Amino acid sequence: MAKIIDGKQISMELKDELKERVAEYRAQGIEITLAVIQVGNDKASSVYVGNKKKACEYIGIHSLSYELEEDTTEEELLELIQKLNGDDRVNGILVQLPLPEHIDEDKVIETIDAKKDVDGFHPMSVGALSIGKKGFISCTPYGIIELLQRSGTEIDGKECVVIGRSNIVGKPMSMLLLRENATVTVAHSHTKNLKEVAKRADILIVAIGRPQFIDHEYVKEGAVVIDVGIHRDDNNKLCGDVNYEDVFPHVSAITPVPGGVGPMTIAMLMKNCVNAVEIQK
Ligand code: GUN
Repeated sequence: MAKIIDGKQISMELKDELKERVAEYRAQGIEITLAVIQVGNDKASSVYVGNKKKACEYIGIHSLSYELEEDTTEEELLELIQKLNGDDRVNGILVQLPLPEHIDEDKVIETIDAKKDVDGFHPMSVGALSIGKKGFISCTPYGIIELLQRSGTEIDGKECVVIGRSNIVGKPMSMLLLRENATVTVAHSHTKNLKEVAKRADILIVAIGRPQFIDHEYVKEGAVVIDVGIHRDDNNKLCGDVNYEDVFPHVSAITPVPGGVGPMTIAMLMKNCVNAVEIQK
């Protein structure tokens, strides 16, 4: 019988551990502050930002909220970031993406001080990860490592296949798995014989962005499957990139959608905020 990897529970455990670390810092007179910037009022972004602020409150991290108008200029946004870069009370800066079209996302990410880049998106953070140096790690792949470790899945020496090569998930995921001594293949839309490649995996990580695309024909018997996707199916029900019902009888462990990878992303953002104290030393 396959094990369901419970991201909701694991993220709660993690948040409770972080709450203790934050209390220890507070006892030493160290307060942790995250600045959250949202430009415009995209509905989904507002929900994510609200959840991030709630998580801060739960853990005891102070959050500063900047809700900017949709027509905020790039220059105004960059000025705010520079002001926060220079503010010693601020440990982390998060600019919610996507940004309105008139603002260059790369420029914004690169303006954030790498020592405050709690999203792990800055080229310095990405570079540090790839050469094994201390730095912030992109929250979703970082959370997947935590899910694997806390559910007792051995990574060392395993065949891992990551489907998807985005800067936020696929690429940092491959680096993290490599750091854990896995053998890593990154597959993507140009990969030939995707079924055969995916079937090699002891651990299959799917971040393909297509609802219920992966069925049992892509999965080796007894594999561990991690589903990064989140979509609505024809009945408006949440589903992932993996056809869960079809794959379930063939796996040894799997993350559900919702309640798998999703809850880990915010928990890891909180972990990055707590790690910021050490990174900034
Ligand atoms: N938009 C969707 N996911 C994320 C994320 O992890 N960080 C930021 N900054 N924006 C997002």
